[in-house]
Amino acid sequence: PLPEYSPAVVIGTGYGAAVTALRLGEAGVPTVMLEMGQLWNEPGPDGKVFCDMLKPDRRSMWFKKRTEAPLASFLWLDVANHDIDPYAGVLDRVNYGGMSVYVGRGVGGGSLVNGAMAVQPKRSYFEEILPRVNADEMYGKYYPRANAGLGVNHIDEAWFETCKSYQFARVSRKAAQKTGLKTTFVPSVYDFDYLKKEEAGTVERSALASEVIYGNNHGKRSLDKTYLAAALGTGHVTIQTLHEVREIIQQQDGTYTLVVRESDALGNVLSTKHLSTKYLFLGAGSLGSTELLVRARDTGRLPRLSEAVGQGWGTNGNVMLGRANHVWDTTGSLEAGMPALGIDDWDNPTHPVFAEIAPVPAGLETWASLYLAITKNPERGHFTYDAASDSAKLQWSPDQGQPSIDAAKSLFDRINKANSTIYRYDLFGDTRAFENRFTYHPLGGLVLGEATDDYGRVKGYRNLYVMDGSLIPGSTGVNPFVTITALAERNIERVIAEDGVRA
Ligand code: FDA
Repeated sequence: PLPEYSPAVVIGTGYGAAVTALRLGEAGVPTVMLEMGQLWNEPGPDGKVFCDMLKPDRRSMWFKKRTEAPLASFLWLDVANHDIDPYAGVLDRVNYGGMSVYVGRGVGGGSLVNGAMAVQPKRSYFEEILPRVNADEMYGKYYPRANAGLGVNHIDEAWFETCKSYQFARVSRKAAQKTGLKTTFVPSVYDFDYLKKEEAGTVERSALASEVIYGNNHGKRSLDKTYLAAALGTGHVTIQTLHEVREIIQQQDGTYTLVVRESDALGNVLSTKHLSTKYLFLGAGSLGSTELLVRARDTGRLPRLSEAVGQGWGTNGNVMLGRANHVWDTTGSLEAGMPALGIDDWDNPTHPVFAEIAPVPAGLETWASLYLAITKNPERGHFTYDAASDSAKLQWSPDQGQPSIDAAKSLFDRINKANSTIYRYDLFGDTRAFENRFTYHPLGGLVLGEATDDYGRVKGYRNLYVMDGSLIPGSTGVNPFVTITALAERNIERVIAEDGVRA
């Protein structure tokens, strides 16, 4: 049961939250984590915890009647999506007017659903986006700490050259090389030894069985197996699932009281509870943490929150696109769900792009090369409080995505020209070649040094902290979770040392 008071509370169980809970637990601080999603450890009727992409059921998505997969169509056919029963599934797509944001729901947050790519930004770009953070410390201490805690590993490059499951990546690499572009291997938190065994047929398949975005039954070192397991192992951390924090109230004595809504997995509200704490850590992700503080400020609960709360949100420049492969450039029907290679054109002076070579794990030859391009898009969105729905609404207009398309187009026009290939126009529901109406990488809303001090302490309030992706000002130039983890490691170390956080 939920206690009435806990010295420390962490909202969410994603990267920032998991780091925070582990370090608090190691410091002996009793800590409650509140997570609105489920704990994913019980097999369903088919004996599996998660469903795959090809036959999604209610476990796939967070209270939807039909799945909303990123690849909306194939040959313009609506084959990717299926009707499902509304349920507390693992992947949410939050649809705002001009932008849809994918997020993970459950113990482990985004780590349950993501592509496991564990990439550090180029140091020069890190210094550009977070100039007040000491980059020597980040690259010397906190990135290595994060990589170790996350269990990052590297692909066997000799195996990569001959295996079946990355033929799709080799086909894309060939096209990039013909254009004079560099490719780079991408470190991962998916266990590449397990993946090798999947291909050899000695273990049950996961990444090779079209498992990604709706969870992986094997191979993935998600946070429940790394940081959160370690946090629980300290004996000081507990996790409450299907508990959504709705409101944050400050008492006269400076402590915080949370209004928490407990539901069942079908969405029935079971009770509304109160939990008080001295030290409150927000790790609900860019959407979740930002909404909590926008709501608290604009309903007058925490009126001293600054105007910077809700500002500085970005998509990490995400654009998805496909190229049509020549008939002789087959990828084969087996594509690993976990990417392992990226095209690195980040040093391009006009249009920096890091394009990860993404699989189409359809189980058949698609003659398509898919990419998630991460671009440098200076446009930023912001959140406003909508009283009618008691929620924060993202303000992002479609034209703000244009710089991302321009950058991706400049790179892939070159690749198509050098290879005499064309774009695929059948993948995104209509005839567009570039899909930038969604992002996997929501960042910002409570930007470090703006809404908080340089260590995530919320301006205007004591003992209130932000620890997740909302700290990052809209862009990391690569996939963001290693940076979110490393920044949380840095900030929580400082907070525990300086702010007297104890039982
Ligand atoms: P995160 O979003 O992980 O966790 C927040 C948690 O808080 C969630 O569990 C949520 O349910 C919970 N929560 C929210 N509001 C709450 C409330 N009010 N009360 C209680 N709980 C609440 N990145 C990368 O580096 N490499 C990759 O390969 C990929 N691939 C990828 C694929 C897909 C499909 C997605 C959706 C995302 C990725 N990402 C990625 C992005 C990465 O997963 C993301 O950046 C991080 O998970 C963000 O970590 P945070 O700690 O900010 O929050």
